[in-house]
Amino acid sequence: MIDHLEHLQFMQDMQTALSQSPKGISPKYFYDQAGSALFDRICELPEYYPTRTELALLQSCASEVAQCMGEHADILEFGAGSLQKIRLLLKAAQQPARYVPMDISGAHLEAASVTLQQEFPQLRVQPLVADYTQDWQLPAALPNAGKRVAFFPGSTIGNFSPAQAHTFFKNCARHLPGGALLLGVDLIKLPDVLHAAYNDAQGVTAAFNLNLLARANRELGCDFDVKQFAHSAFYNAPLQRIEMHLLSLQAQTVHLSGQAYAFEQGETLHTEYSHKFTIAGVQQAALAAGLQAGPFWTDPHHHFGLLWLNIPHTQEH
Ligand code: AVI
Repeated sequence: MIDHLEHLQFMQDMQTALSQSPKGISPKYFYDQAGSALFDRICELPEYYPTRTELALLQSCASEVAQCMGEHADILEFGAGSLQKIRLLLKAAQQPARYVPMDISGAHLEAASVTLQQEFPQLRVQPLVADYTQDWQLPAALPNAGKRVAFFPGSTIGNFSPAQAHTFFKNCARHLPGGALLLGVDLIKLPDVLHAAYNDAQGVTAAFNLNLLARANRELGCDFDVKQFAHSAFYNAPLQRIEMHLLSLQAQTVHLSGQAYAFEQGETLHTEYSHKFTIAGVQQAALAAGLQAGPFWTDPHHHFGLLWLNIPHTQEH
């Protein structure tokens, strides 16, 4: 069940998505229960290298990351995603003071927090329901805690527009003075490898994309004929991003709240950007928001990167 406000927001965003040209909606609407389960399956696909590459990378650099964190780190995670990843960091960290997972979905947060609390009984686990794509308020600093370290894995920052990424970095700089951000990013690589990762042979990514229409039918009472839309994902090399769309296979009309919206044959509803990065490019973008480059780690194939970004104590802007 989603709450009333979320439902209203989805309704408004879908109305806007269908009214504008080109049509487009936020990727956050992928993640209902069915979509989250499909995303978990994507992470296991042979073609989808980011998850296992980042995990292996974290495993190999965990002790160096722990050094950067120092003792009694106050660890914040954007999204209460893969427990596997944070587990690696928490195990390597030197007596972490607290773990604050931040997620918009209270149910997901609760489940993740309970599991971690059981595994790390000494750790203070303090979930925070907040939308990190907007602004957020952190819980008060702990009296004897060390550095505040924010962890943003999975290259989820790649789903932001460059302007949203800048705002996100600025928010980190503002809320975590003297702290640091540990950021996972998917790196630019051969287009074939990228293409395969978003066009898997089993069609799980296609099902994930199309689920957005099925979700709109379930929750908003839309009448999308899901079979008359196709998954479309391609690498836009000049803009260094995968683009995902839902392509209308015929001229058709969709209804929402009594209003009709026309799709031409071949017209698309844009659903996601997944930007790919260079280490230097991320460091530059972070610098533009007041963060400072620290160490970084990549896997032997340079498919994925983890960057340590320091946040100065005082901000000039
Ligand atoms: C969550 N995010 C980083 C994934 C990505 O690769 O951009 C979402 C995804 N979309 C299709 N496959 C996976």
